[in-house]
Parts: sequence; structure tokens; C-alpha cells
Amino acid sequence: MESRQTGNAAGIYEERKAWWKEAVVYQIYPRSFADSDGDGIGDLNGITAHLPYLRKLGIDVIWLSPVYQSPNDDNGYDISDYRAIMTEFGTMEDFDRMLERAHALGIRIVMDLVVNHTSDEHRWFVESSSSRDNPFRDYYIWKEPREGREPNNWESCFSGSAWQYDERTGMYYLHCFSKKQPDLNWENPKVREEVFDLMDFWCRKGIDGFRMDVISMISKNQDFPDGPIKDNGVYGDMFPYVCNGPRVHEYLKEMNRRVLSRYDLMTVGEAAGVTLEEAAKYACADGSELNMVFQFEHTDTVQGEGSVIGKWTTRKPRMSEIRKVLNKWQLGLEGRAWNSLYWDNHDQPRAVSRFGNDSEKWRVVSAKMLAVCLHMMKGTPYIYQGEEIGMTNTRFTSLEDCRDIEEINAYRQYVTRLKITDDQTMLRCFDTVARDNARTPMQWDDSENAGFTSGTPWIRVNPNFKTINAEAALEDPDSVFWFYRDLIRLRHTYPVIVYGSFEPLMEESEAVYAYRRRLGDQVLTVACNWTDKDQACGLFEEGGMDLISNYKTHREGILGPYEARVMLEKS
Ligand code: GLC
Repeated sequence: MESRQTGNAAGIYEERKAWWKEAVVYQIYPRSFADSDGDGIGDLNGITAHLPYLRKLGIDVIWLSPVYQSPNDDNGYDISDYRAIMTEFGTMEDFDRMLERAHALGIRIVMDLVVNHTSDEHRWFVESSSSRDNPFRDYYIWKEPREGREPNNWESCFSGSAWQYDERTGMYYLHCFSKKQPDLNWENPKVREEVFDLMDFWCRKGIDGFRMDVISMISKNQDFPDGPIKDNGVYGDMFPYVCNGPRVHEYLKEMNRRVLSRYDLMTVGEAAGVTLEEAAKYACADGSELNMVFQFEHTDTVQGEGSVIGKWTTRKPRMSEIRKVLNKWQLGLEGRAWNSLYWDNHDQPRAVSRFGNDSEKWRVVSAKMLAVCLHMMKGTPYIYQGEEIGMTNTRFTSLEDCRDIEEINAYRQYVTRLKITDDQTMLRCFDTVARDNARTPMQWDDSENAGFTSGTPWIRVNPNFKTINAEAALEDPDSVFWFYRDLIRLRHTYPVIVYGSFEPLMEESEAVYAYRRRLGDQVLTVACNWTDKDQACGLFEEGGMDLISNYKTHREGILGPYEARVMLEKS
């Protein structure tokens, strides 16, 4: 494993080099990327057809959201067969061709590994739920009723109880997500063996790594205690008992020994509820577990305060809150573990709408500013499909517009059942934070359905596709697309961007996010104005080399609205 760091005499860490530290990752949500056969659903051949577009952008790695056989209760995050391709997405031959073409273009492919739970339609669960003494019974987490009810008060991530009663065997099973996503019992060594085997199956095919879905949740506190009551007063919080559980590091070390260490892979764990201390274990520089984790602190800054309920809010997060979190992670992992960097993914609203300004006037400028702010930090950057053309959130007019089980369940629970909020309040929250914002089809051109499909798209296309689309972006030298291409090139050219140390600057400012990176005698200064007003910034002196900016000219001592500037100097 390639990630150990060594300290030099000055106490400054020199990072051990690794390809996944130098890479930029592009996430594809296949259902919404490109439909090649007109059924309204994106597919593998659609991805293969657009590989040259990704080559142009210059990314190194694709993270592919799940493509395995699935009844799609949660769009592929509920897997019924880990060794087969989802019928709607194509065939195993299509997959092999896609992998081969990607490799020929120098692009690696990282698969999504969803093994905290399976689909209830997976053979293991069908067996497990068939009788109390079935050999697969212990593959899942079954509990007796407590006083005729659920075994504890945990609320699932998708609203309602985390337990589902099974009439046939008279017991409850745990599902941290939907009831069609029963949690696997990782305490059972047979389950772990099955998981390692299926990982081997994909590694032998030549894939380049895994993004591990909610991997911080695989080890549960075996006492299954009630959780503190949450804000709707009905259910308890399960997170303290399911995240970063007692055996999670043991399991990951075992996975590393059994599978990961035998191949040259990139591994990233999605780690809900992770602290710096925990992350330093998951992504420990000794390479004994994973390469890096996704943490959620910067995307969760508005939960609680300012929320209507749970994650549902219309509030925009403040830059200073986000900066505090990201700087903490930059500094906290230095010399210990590696960061992953993201604004967007399939579970988040669109970054330019959430953190930037998606008005006609500022969309492009603020999208570029956000890109600079993230891509000049230390860690592996992730771009989510459409982010590179500045795609925005959409507007929800009714529940009919929603496809995501998280939104639909939340609406039913909070609007219909508990009457805690009204539908307009909830829909405005959806406009702000719903996952479907990220799942509207990729906007390829200004033709019908944005060039995504010749059929009826499974989810509404964002009506702004006439102006915001890849074709228009490719024709415009000042587009967000070419700016991302330039940022990726810079990362590939200047080791200071990959390996330099991180030093926060202007931490008192409510408007400017600034920092410095250093490697040897190279000093990189980065400053980003997160507001639509001029802001004072005295960081840039004559004589340095301007590496990239979203402005063509600069004013001394001032950053214009959403201006981002990066300067390289020698110390
Ligand atoms: C992860 C995925 C999300 C999914 C959930 C359950 O958070 O990113 O899309 O709904 O896990 O698998």
C-alpha cells in the first residue's frame, strides 16, 4: 500500500506518492447519465458512448454508482444480484466493453460496493426470511418483538421505524434504509466471506477500486439500545449505535487482508457520522484499511439549526461554517490520512445552487469559484456528473415530480401523517436539498429531453437545459467545462497541488475563503470570494504567477464578486 508518510527534520510531512492521490474522479449516476436505447433510463452503452467527453475533461477515474441487478427501490442501492448487471442498464458484455474502452483511454473505473444491506429480493434474504431455521437466517439481523412491537425505537434513514415485521416468521428485521434494504449481519463470518468473494469477482475483471456505501455502518452495537428521541418525537436516533461500531475496523482490516491488498485499487469509504479520529483509522496512512473516506460535516452544516425537520431546510449554509469544517479536515488529517474532496454527489443538491449563486448573472462565475476553492485543496477531488457544466437544482411542483424514496417517505411522514409541515414548505425544502436535484438527466444538448433519451425520461429534465448543456459548454471557451479541464491539468502539472501542506488564511473573513499550500520552495496562494460584492483581499503581491482565475483582469487588493484567484510563487 502506497500511502505512508514520513516526517522530515523540519517536521513537515512528505506524502508518499500514490496514483489515487494524483487522480481526479468523476462520478456517474448511470440512470441519469445517457440513455442509448430509448427506454428513458441511462445505461452502460450510453456511458461508453460518452467516454471521449470525459477524456476531453481529463479526469482519471470514474466512480460508477451501482449497476448491479436491482429492483430499484433506491435506484440500485438495493442489490438483488452482485454478479449481474441491472437489466435496464445492459449486459455483462456491455460492462466489459465499457471497462475496456475506458482503460484504453487511460480512465480507471471504481465500482460502488453496497454491502451494508442487500435488496429484500436478494436470494440470501429470500432464504433468510423463509423460516427461522433456514441456513441463511443469520445473514440478516432478526429480533423478537418487544412487548408486541419493534425491538427498539430506531428511525430509518428513510423515515419510519428501522424495523420491519415479518409475518411468516413472527420476527422483525433491521433496515437502516428502506424496508426493501435489509441490513446484512456482518457478525456472521459467512456474510463476510460472501462479500469478499464478490469483491474478488469484480477485481478479477480488472476494475480499479471500490467506493464503499455507508461502510461506517456495517458493525452494529449488539445491545441494540433505544436511541435518543429525534425531532419529530416519535423515533430514536440509531446513529450512535450503528455508525463506527465496535468491530468496523476489524472487518475492514480483514477485507484489506483478504481482498484489497491483493490488487492495485483505489478505495473510498462513505462514512456517515465519522469524526477526525475515526477517519484517521479508516484511511490510516499505513494502508491497513481504506485510502480515504467521504465525511459529511461540510454538507450537513445546516442540519438542526434552521431546519424545518431533520435534513429538510431552505437555509443556505454560511461559507464560514463550511470553511471551519473543511479546514479542520485539511489540518486534522495532515500526515495521518488522506482527504477526499467533494461538493456534489447523487445524495446532495447541486453545488452551484447550494453554495454558489445559480442566477443567470453569477452561475458560471460562482461555479468556477467553487471549483477553484475545492480543487486547490489537499485530497482527491470528485466531480459529480453535470457539475462540470454548472447544472443547477430544479423546482418541485408536487410530490409527482419526486422519484427518490427518501423524499417520498419524508413527505408522507411529515406532511401527510404527522402534519408537522405543509406541502409547500416541504416542496421548498426539496428545491433546496432533495437528492433528486442531482438526479435530473445529464444535459447534453438543447434537443428534446436535453439529448439524454429519445424516450420518456424516468425523471423530469431540468427545464433550463436549453441554455445549460454540454454541447453549449464545449463551444464556449469561457465555459465551466473548460475551466474544470484547466483545473485538472494544473493538478496533474504541479505537485504542490497534490502533495503540498495546507495553511488556512483570512479565517476571520465572512466572505473570503483563502489558504496557502506549500511544497519545497513552491507557495500556492488561493483566495475565493463567496459573495456577490467586492471584498478586500491583500494576499496577492506583484511577481507571482497567476495560475488560474475566473476573472480575466484583477484589481489590486480587491476580489470581485465570486472572484477566485490562484497564484504560484517561490519562497
Ligand atoms: C448511501 C448512498 C445513497 C443510498 C444509501 C443506502 O448513502 O449514497 O444513495 O440511498 O447509501 O444505500
